[in-house]
Amino acid sequence: MTLLVARGLTKTYPGARRIRALDDVSFEIAPGETLGLIGPSGCGKSTLARVLTRLTEPDAGTIRFGGQDWGALKGRALRRARGAMQMVFQDPGAAFHPRATVAGALCEPLRLHAIAPRSDWPDHVELLLTQVGLSPELAPRPLSALSGGQRQRVAIARAIAPRPKLIVLDEAVSALDASVRARVLDLLAQLQRDMGLAYLFVSHDLAVTRALSHRIAVMEAGRIVETGPAEALLAAPRTEILRRLIAAVPTIHTEKVPS
Ligand SMILES: Nc1ncnc2c1ncn2[C@@H]1O[C@H](COP(=O)(O)OP(=O)(O)OP(=O)(O)O)[C@@H](O)[C@H]1O
Ligand SMILES: [Mg+2]
Repeated sequence: MTLLVARGLTKTYPGARRIRALDDVSFEIAPGETLGLIGPSGCGKSTLARVLTRLTEPDAGTIRFGGQDWGALKGRALRRARGAMQMVFQDPGAAFHPRATVAGALCEPLRLHAIAPRSDWPDHVELLLTQVGLSPELAPRPLSALSGGQRQRVAIARAIAPRPKLIVLDEAVSALDASVRARVLDLLAQLQRDMGLAYLFVSHDLAVTRALSHRIAVMEAGRIVETGPAEALLAAPRTEILRRLIAAVPTIHTEKVPS
């Protein structure tokens, strides 16, 4: 069964240039699968992430998610359903109130999605921190005292709190140093195995996308121009844009050369 089916998503931003950020975009995501979404800056990746998570309304198109007409949900029904699709953004700071504590940030989804009675929140916070590889001792700390990698782990903990089926990750590891990034990618893979999560993994970095993705969709100027199983797609790129993205990653074409 398919978890998410997007059909014909189209979005033009108003204004003098009338940019068509999404142009008839269709794709599917299976339960427990990572779909990597790759493409150059400005091709519409974040717009697609925002349309899926219902932060931006498309001009046209449909989204079915978990058997529901996701794109048609409104008000209370949407708020109630939202726990099933969570999002993690690039900037670990921007998603949080500047003076929020780690525990405060993690209690928010517990309250919002009525996951547990208030008296159980401290236990939930401890469990969530453990799940993302952080010490429960961080709970009372302000988020501003954490490193970028730790903050992104808190963002991931917050996203898994409502036990979602899909997490949309928009450049979620792009701001991290290489070694921290590798460990956060490991965490994402482990959470996927443990919780059966699906990811839409949005990135402009093909090496990072390849590490996590089962399938990859390539976007250019608002359209998905190529899609397929990750390794097969990279082994035989059909579009110029994908060839260029591959050429920009030295490790991909040197890796298979015997040493
Ligand atoms: N709120 C907005 N109003 C007007 N135009 C917008 C808005 N958001 C994005 N755009 C334009 O829509 C196009 C797609 O932008 P989007 O942010 O979705 O691209 P992206 O692939 O995420 O890029 P990046 O890799 O730089 O994050 C771009 O031309 C962008 O300038
Ligand atoms: Mg973007």
